[in-house]
Order: sequence, then structure tokens, then C-alpha cells
Amino acid sequence: MNKKIVFSGIQPSGNLHIGNYIGAVRQWVKGQNDGLNIFCVVDMHAITVPQDPKTLAQKSREISAIILAAGIDPDKSLLFVQSHNPDHANLGWILNCYLSIGQLNRMIQYKEKSDGKKFVSVGLFDYPVLMAADILLYGTTEVPVGDDQKQHVELTRDVAERFNSKYSPTFVLPEPKTPKAGGRVMSLIDPTKKMSKSDPNPNGAVWLLEDPAMARKKIMSAVTDSGSEVKYDWGNKPGISNLLEILNQFSDVSIAELEKKFAGQNYGQFKIAVADVVEKFLVNFQKKYAEISESEELESILKEGAQKAYQISHPKLLGVYKKVGFLGQ
Ligand code: TYM
Repeated sequence: MNKKIVFSGIQPSGNLHIGNYIGAVRQWVKGQNDGLNIFCVVDMHAITVPQDPKTLAQKSREISAIILAAGIDPDKSLLFVQSHNPDHANLGWILNCYLSIGQLNRMIQYKEKSDGKKFVSVGLFDYPVLMAADILLYGTTEVPVGDDQKQHVELTRDVAERFNSKYSPTFVLPEPKTPKAGGRVMSLIDPTKKMSKSDPNPNGAVWLLEDPAMARKKIMSAVTDSGSEVKYDWGNKPGISNLLEILNQFSDVSIAELEKKFAGQNYGQFKIAVADVVEKFLVNFQKKYAEISESEELESILKEGAQKAYQISHPKLLGVYKKVGFLGQ
């Protein structure tokens, strides 16, 4: 059997919310005890939409500290910033030549992100190809992501298959891994929409670095559904189902058990339980975050992560250069 190699990434744009934590970072932490685990702060993806340069650099540092505070252990996992390893852009360019415009046109996230925008960069269109390069450079077997990234991992498999069959086996086909519950955490004010960094209404999301008392208020005023039963039923009760998934993820109590526990209780009592776990999580998390973000160790963790990542990616890239016919140096 292939060794488990995990790769995932997160953009240093906007603020991270509990959806990013539940859908992605928490899964990374849970899985880091075996195999090779590589996590990347994808600053090159972030510039596909306009960014303020100073803020972008600050955010890359902030997100790195958040990932460490969430429990990624640099002795077990590699953590680095995408632009610190030039192999990503180099492989991305090559993969561009093995995917069609038609394939990229089908990407749902591109349609959503470009919709109604006056200026749409080529980078935004090309975004999934750079993501494919991120994944394929490391022989990745598993990509732990939220639901919204699954289509991009499918495209990664498509380009890997095309390249492998045109030349010879080169790339491993990765599997997307989404959590059973929490792969798509929904907005607190509109549970039919995904919790999102770019939601103009800040009450839809709980931010990882926000005041825990404010987070509590947001949960208490989350939109619920008609009726009064705490039931896991996305069709009729999306608000309650979303809160049940959040509670399940922060308490590790199964959804079936939670339904039993809250049978006969009203929405208000249920929301207090959700607010309690989220608030407690944020208090502990933010304590760790403060320690890490003040420490000078962060820079050396990122530097070492990039060096180790390059040692893995570069032989792979040179192999690809040879296959496509680039003149060796
Ligand atoms: P990004 O930065 O938008 O989001 C980071 C991760 O958070 C997940 N996520 C969610 N999960 C559950 N509920 C939500 N409401 C929610 N919102 C976001 C995302 O699915 C993601 O896993 N393209 C990626 C970054 C990337 C990447 C990669 C990921 C670049 N290269 C290679 C994996 C492998 C992105 O924009 O994620």
C-alpha cells in the first residue's frame, strides 16, 4: 500500500472562521500522527483577487500561527508558505498545458467568485491548476478539505491521469477527504448559504480570533427553523442541523446522541449548549494563538517547512521537466 501523504492548503485572505477549522484544519490535526503531512499557506492563490500587500504578509503570518495554535505540530507536520517554494508555480505552468479552458470553465468556485466582478484576473480562472500543482508535487494520497474544494481535487486527478497516460506514471492520484459532518458549515444567519470569509454580514460566521463573548451572542441569535424539536434534518431544519454539526464537531458527541440528549428541550436550551462549547474552544484556542504569534519560533518553523518541502518537490519537478522535454542543465 502507498504511504499516506497528506497535503492541504488555506488562503491567507480574510479572517478564518469555524467552518475553516471544522472542515479543514481540525481534520489536519487529527490525521497528523501517521504518514507525511504537509500544510501550506497559499499566498499565491490569495493574489488571484486584489490584496493589500502589507495585510497579505501579516495574514500569512497570522494564519500560520492559527494553524499551529489549532494543534499542527511542526515535529510531525511540515508547514510552509506557498511562495517560499518556487516549484508550485513552475509545475502549475506545465499543468496549464494539459488542461482545457472547457474543463476550467466548469469550476463552480470560479463561477461564484467571478460573478458580477468588473475585473476577473486570469489567475482566478487558473486557480485550480495551481492547486493541482500544490497537491501533485508531493505524491499526495489524501487531501483533507471542505466540500467546496472537492471539485478542484477531481480536476487534479484528471490532469494527473492525462499526464500519466501521455508520458508514463508520474503523479499519484489523490483522494479528497471531507469530514462526515462539518464538510460544509453554513452561515448562522442564512443556513442555506456556506459560512464564508467573504460574507459581507459578519454575523453569519464565528471568527477564530473574535471575542468569545461576541461569538456566544452570534450563536444565540443564529437563525433557527419553525417547530421546536432539535432534529437533524437538513431538508426541513437547516439552521438546527448546522448547529448540531457544529456541536458534534466541538464536543465529539455523535449527532444521534445529541438528538436524544436534547429531546423535549427547546431551541434556546440547545443553543446555550452550542454557545458553551464554541466559547470554551475559542478561549483556549486564543490563548495558544497569543503565545505562538508572539514567539520568534514561527519564522524558523516556516523556513524549515519550506526547505523540507522543496527537498520533496524538486526531484518530482525535475522528473516532469525531463518527461516534457525541457533541456537539462
Ligand atoms: P480556503 O482558504 O477557501 O479554505 C480553507 C479550507 O476551509 C474549508 N472551508 C470550509 N469547510 C467547511 N465549511 C465551510 N463553510 C468552509 N469554508 C471553507 C475549505 O474547503 C478548505 O479546505 N483552494 C483552497 C486552498 C488550497 C488547497 C490547495 C487546498 C490551495 N491549494 C491544495 C487543498 C490542497 C481554498 O481556497 O481554501
